[in-house]
Amino acid sequence: MSDSINRRNFIGTSAASTAAAGLSLSTAQALAASSPNNKVVVGVMGLSRGASLADSYAKMENVEVKYVCDIDSTRAEKVAERVEGVSGKAPQAIGDFRRILDDKQVDALVCAAPNHWHGPATILGCSAGKHVYVEKPCSHNPREGELMIEAARKHKRAVQVGTQRRSGDGWLDAIAKLHAGAIGNVYHVRAFYASARPSIGKGKPVDVPSHVDYELWQGPAPRKPYLSNVVHYNWHWRWHWGNGELGNNGVHTLDLCRWGANVDFPTQVTSSGGRYHWDDDQETPDTHTVSYEFGGKCQITWQGTSCNRHGAGFVTFYGDKGTLDVDSNGKYKLYDKGDKVVEERKDARYTNEFHIANFLAAIRNDKPLDLAAEIAEGHKSTLLCHLGNISQRVGRSLSCDPRNGHILNDKEAMELWGREYEPGWEPKV
Ligand SMILES: NC(=O)c1ccc[n+]([C@@H]2O[C@H](COP(=O)([O-])OP(=O)(O)OC[C@H]3O[C@@H](n4cnc5c(N)ncnc54)[C@H](O)[C@@H]3O)[C@@H](O)[C@H]2O)c1
Repeated sequence: MSDSINRRNFIGTSAASTAAAGLSLSTAQALAASSPNNKVVVGVMGLSRGASLADSYAKMENVEVKYVCDIDSTRAEKVAERVEGVSGKAPQAIGDFRRILDDKQVDALVCAAPNHWHGPATILGCSAGKHVYVEKPCSHNPREGELMIEAARKHKRAVQVGTQRRSGDGWLDAIAKLHAGAIGNVYHVRAFYASARPSIGKGKPVDVPSHVDYELWQGPAPRKPYLSNVVHYNWHWRWHWGNGELGNNGVHTLDLCRWGANVDFPTQVTSSGGRYHWDDDQETPDTHTVSYEFGGKCQITWQGTSCNRHGAGFVTFYGDKGTLDVDSNGKYKLYDKGDKVVEERKDARYTNEFHIANFLAAIRNDKPLDLAAEIAEGHKSTLLCHLGNISQRVGRSLSCDPRNGHILNDKEAMELWGREYEPGWEPKV
């Protein structure tokens, strides 16, 4: 990527048309700055969520998806065909993401592999000179998040976390309103998630299917026998690879809560809940409530019911002058102190493409920190999930250092700050 672009012209022209289409200025700016002459070449790793990301990247102007990579060869081949259908050019279907890192033409690695891969792959990506778009939660454990920030800074790379609502027009608008004081001082935020997830049953050791490279699926995680009910997707509910619903869907809403309330690291974290619904191999809670206290000024609560869909709501901000209810798309209702609706937005949306446009703009403008979900912010939000899970696992409240979220005076809890790695895969910055 070498051509320079006239950024001001792009923003000027495109902002006008996107404003007409009802997009916020930040979204407009990102779309504008990401559609110039400089080609950006990407490789996508992990092709379930990554299949949708590969489509989205392939749709962006002057972006080449050169590689689609999965340790499951059936997925890689299928997604390569799909991307060819979108862009007219077939990417190479590969099984080892290190080929993406070795290719000097590639500008960015997109990591949508399971959570235990996020930190190690991002750090390897930055070391190889790649920008990285990494899915949420950005890390499998808190230490990895800290190392990811170090790697991004050391190599001056853009690292965008896949909390895509950060680039949604409604959410940008709602947060701007909060920050301008629409409901006064925000002192409480409530987030909610509900689903009706099935049992994963009890797994048995079975032969690894011939189309799966289980060695590379495990990568940085210490080795375990291949079970019939972990690959794909169900790893989310096992601590060795996943972070439960809190790290899966919780991170999206906690990120928005933290953003709107303008808070960083908590001072107190309390978890309660458990696995009440199915008797199966899952380890992470199916019913979970976590509350976060921020220095006596603000409280965030997250509630997840993974096995019962009843209940409504996404994120509600409570202030001393009113309340703001925002849904998943960014549509909102603003209430005054008397609980009367004073403003409503009905037309909001968020897309992968808005968030990707923001990432591409940071790369093209050589402004690696100019990101909607920059790794330092992504780490703070993901850390809330990790702290909630650690509190759940040790069975007590945690006191945290407001400067960095480190757990105070609890050696057992602090042992869960990092993990052991498969020898040879320890992340190094
Ligand atoms: N931002 C979002 O809205 C969103 C939505 C869904 C999933 N996600 C995130 O995406 C990630 C993947 O989730 P999923 O639901 O797609 O899981 P999944 O298990 O269904 O898919 C993961 C894929 O990664 C592949 N993989 C594993 N190791 C690999 C490696 N070393 N190289 C290449 N491919 C590898 C697997 O074979 C599998 O195809 C998770 O971290 C999840 O939180 C984000």
